[in-house]
Amino acid sequence: MRRALILALACCVSACAPAVKRDPRLSSAPLAERLAAADASLGATVFSRCAACHTVTQGAGDRGGPALYGVVGRPVGRGSDRFNYTAALEAVGGVWTFERLDAWLTNPQHFAPGTNMGFAGLPDGMDRADVIRFLNENGSNLPLPVAPSPHSRPTR
Ligand code: HEC
Repeated sequence: MRRALILALACCVSACAPAVKRDPRLSSAPLAERLAAADASLGATVFSRCAACHTVTQGAGDRGGPALYGVVGRPVGRGSDRFNYTAALEAVGGVWTFERLDAWLTNPQHFAPGTNMGFAGLPDGMDRADVIRFLNENGSNLPLPVAPSPHSRPTR
């Protein structure tokens, strides 16, 4: 009886423990540091919240939103030839940098007032970093910004 209880507890601890333990303070760390700690496979899971409107694989088309293959480094609001972007996003100009993607995904309406991306944003900084790394690994593969020295990282 007691042994069964201990066994059950042990199973729960191993099955219920999160796969990656992160310092929660990372979520508000500077972007370079978040990206260095980010995990593209967790980003794939975050991307399930985008997938109703976006594809990310090579050759896949637009949905309600533009195809995102290779989006990091691509012109803002112009990168997918057939997609009908809003004037609000087109007017931003320049290319999608890591920093701009981080700002966009925090709050699309704040980044490009009038955009029709019907998504409130990702409030957690590590969700954003994970999904940005995932996007980067799908067709862009740009070098990540250099993270500050380890001395400035939060102490554990
Ligand atoms: C409800 C649909 C919807 C969801 C959900 C959504 N998007 Fe979008 N997304 C859009 C639309 C529509 C646009 C084009 C906006 C415009 O033209 O103003 C867009 C544009 C973008 C762009 C700019 C692409 C370019 O070519 O300039 C990026 C990057 C992007 N979305 C990433 C994401 C990510 C990452 C998520 C999930 C965390 C997400 N979106 C969730 C609809 C959506």
